[in-house]
Amino acid sequence: MNDLNAFVQPQRERILNELFTLLKIPSISTDPSHNADCRRAAHWAADHLKALGCPRVELLASETHPVVWAEGPDAPGKPTVLVYGHYDVQPADPLDLWDSPPFEPTVRDGNLYARGATDDKGQVFSVIKAFEAVSRGGRPPINARFLIEGQEESGSKVLFDLLEREPERVNADAVLVSDMPYFAPGWPSVEAGLRGLCAAEITVRVLKGDLHSGLYGGAAPNAHETLVHLLAKLKTPDGKIHIPGVYQAVKRPSAAERAAWKKLPFNERAFQRDEVGSRALTGLKPYSVLERIWALPTFEIHGIVGGFTGQGTKTVIPAVATAKVTLRLVPNQKTAVVARQLSAAVKKLAPKWADVSLKIMHGADPVLVDISAPPFKLIDQAFREVEGRGVVPTRSGGSIPIVPALGKRGAPVVLAGIGLPDDRLHAPNEKIGVEQVFKGIRVFGRFFELMGGA
Ligand code: BES
Ligand code: MN
Ligand code: MN
Repeated sequence: MNDLNAFVQPQRERILNELFTLLKIPSISTDPSHNADCRRAAHWAADHLKALGCPRVELLASETHPVVWAEGPDAPGKPTVLVYGHYDVQPADPLDLWDSPPFEPTVRDGNLYARGATDDKGQVFSVIKAFEAVSRGGRPPINARFLIEGQEESGSKVLFDLLEREPERVNADAVLVSDMPYFAPGWPSVEAGLRGLCAAEITVRVLKGDLHSGLYGGAAPNAHETLVHLLAKLKTPDGKIHIPGVYQAVKRPSAAERAAWKKLPFNERAFQRDEVGSRALTGLKPYSVLERIWALPTFEIHGIVGGFTGQGTKTVIPAVATAKVTLRLVPNQKTAVVARQLSAAVKKLAPKWADVSLKIMHGADPVLVDISAPPFKLIDQAFREVEGRGVVPTRSGGSIPIVPALGKRGAPVVLAGIGLPDDRLHAPNEKIGVEQVFKGIRVFGRFFELMGGA
């Protein structure tokens, strides 16, 4: 414990500079024009792990978004800990809303600002540094394995295929994932569940081509109007999703789990005002806010493409409109089933004058984690020692597609991050607290030590 502090304190600048190097790489996996940057980020991780003494380091499975695989030095008789993380990031736009450029990491007031600072580069970096901290003399207390991918933000296709072919990669005594926030500042959490995702595009065509709205308006169908009516029927203002069957598989959290959530330091008003930044909260009113964001499915419209959105006006009747939508899924919903339900609902709601098509983009199954296995006691102890408080059991509304597959061979998957709720992941001015990075190094280092029996 004190040893870990002794590792961190004199080297803070060197450690931060290394993180800067990683954060400067614009490894945006959803944008093919950044494929080379994704490769560079993969190489950064591979070279780094090699330099830390990992005897086996590989880039696997893809030219464009390689999976980084590394094995630490053998620690005979010690447990195996698999570390999962991702080096890819979300697009940075709108760029003009950033106070400093997204790929020029900048420290202001104790926070490090950059795209990927918290999701997930800064977090996976703190786990890598924790491994460094406990590897002095080339003898880590555990058998470490690293699986760091570059397609998390776009569905993890390459990694799914890899684990399908080589399932033994996830043989471990524990899997550690640091890609999520604390429940609140000073309140580390361990996630007992993540939501899944079903992403789709709904396209409506109502005309052979665009028309002059003066000559035809009043008699011709309008693609945007048709699409908007359809979307409005898929979810009503009370927050209910009208896709037949969609709630059928939903397993409500147990009374005990809901009771535990009630004890969390959660202030609905502050959440609304400071985090959400709205005048009201919406959604299914009979359920608590935490249940709504952690354990109920959602339907969101992310954008509508088509028609005219340029400067000035254009009196046109659009022929085609596309909506980008997602559903968040909860235990025990299945992505494939929900995709079929959405497709059926959309077909049924389409008026007779519209050709409606649905394209399923990518998905993620929801996951529940049994947090009673021994490694959870150890992560709790590690946080207790470093943070002065153990972990609270929560869930998260976000999704990490590969997590269900990481637990397939029975390893307990410890979902415990070091971000903070106001880190603005995926948004302008994403940040990570500098102290959170250093705390993370000590927490995860301590976790490795405790796993190794120290
Ligand atoms: N790290 C996030 C997911 C997350 C955030 C989990 C907060 C728990 C708490 C991850 O990088 C992410 O953004 N995932 C995507 C899924 C993907 C398929 C686009 C998401 O949740 O939208
Ligand atoms: Mn992430
Ligand atoms: Mn993300």
